[in-house]
Amino acid sequence: MPLIIDCDPGIDDAVALLLAMASPQLDILGITTVAGNVSIDTTSNNARSICELGQRPDLKIFPGCPRPMVRKPIVAAHVHGENGLGGVSFPQPQMPLQPLHGVDFLRDSLLQVSAPITLATLGPLTNVATALIQAPEIAQKLERIVMMGGAVGAGNVTGAAEFNFYTDPHAAQVVLQTAAEYEVPVVVIPLDVTHRAIATPARRQALRNLSSGNRNNPAETVATMLDNYGLREQREMGFAGPPLHDPCVIAYLLQPALFETESVSATIEITSQLTQGRLVIDRNGELDLPGQIELATNIDADGFYGLLTEALGQLG
Ligand code: RIB
Ligand code: CA
Repeated sequence: MPLIIDCDPGIDDAVALLLAMASPQLDILGITTVAGNVSIDTTSNNARSICELGQRPDLKIFPGCPRPMVRKPIVAAHVHGENGLGGVSFPQPQMPLQPLHGVDFLRDSLLQVSAPITLATLGPLTNVATALIQAPEIAQKLERIVMMGGAVGAGNVTGAAEFNFYTDPHAAQVVLQTAAEYEVPVVVIPLDVTHRAIATPARRQALRNLSSGNRNNPAETVATMLDNYGLREQREMGFAGPPLHDPCVIAYLLQPALFETESVSATIEITSQLTQGRLVIDRNGELDLPGQIELATNIDADGFYGLLTEALGQLG
């Protein structure tokens, strides 16, 4: 499966990238980074560190947009730590960043490919929206877009909006609208599902056990990053550990049967100051929105962690 991953590493993005690297059925054509959890320089540098942690210094990382299309930038360093990786320190990465801008890579690679590409988005959609505005016809080369974003229930930045869609609501709306126009299949995995993928102490211990037999295995580092993640959700929602948002996107690519979905039409609220970034879904066509998306509604959490642990055990 030819795949481009757009991300803002970010602790959960890091775990998603490692899961993708550990899955030979995914042919990672490129990783584009975007400002989101932390600045573009930090997300890009973190992508280098994580690729080296996964022993994939051959992967190509293309830094993208440093700020949202319209909104003023926000970051989530209070969630992911100042370094964006839970304060875990990594050796200075040696692999290069690509000179081509992430938006140019998305646009040019999609214009040039003959076979359609799957796009996994793990952060704000600024890069993807910008590429689609520059060359909407690239949508015809998208096999599908699988994205982490939104919430049917409460958001995690405001009561209405989830971080990826809140940070750049205009980009999210452009992507959903253009995908509908070009009939690109879209799968959205919202907080309601990722909040069921909790990295409990037992699940983190299972990851740590992978490293006890193999010093090169990155699972111990993953578990340590997770120890410092999702503390607010644990405090306010009583979770037994951090929710693993972004790895759900990669797991969907690998084993879609782990998820339940429903077909709905959807858009993003961009005008209201109160609910900007809200994923607005319509189950019965009353809003007359173009297109349909597959909205994930449930996950087999044990199956997800079985997949994640098995895959990460292959690394190192
Ligand atoms: O709301 C969760 C999402 O926002 C995840 O992708 C996390 O990495 C942050 O980007
Ligand atoms: Ca992310």
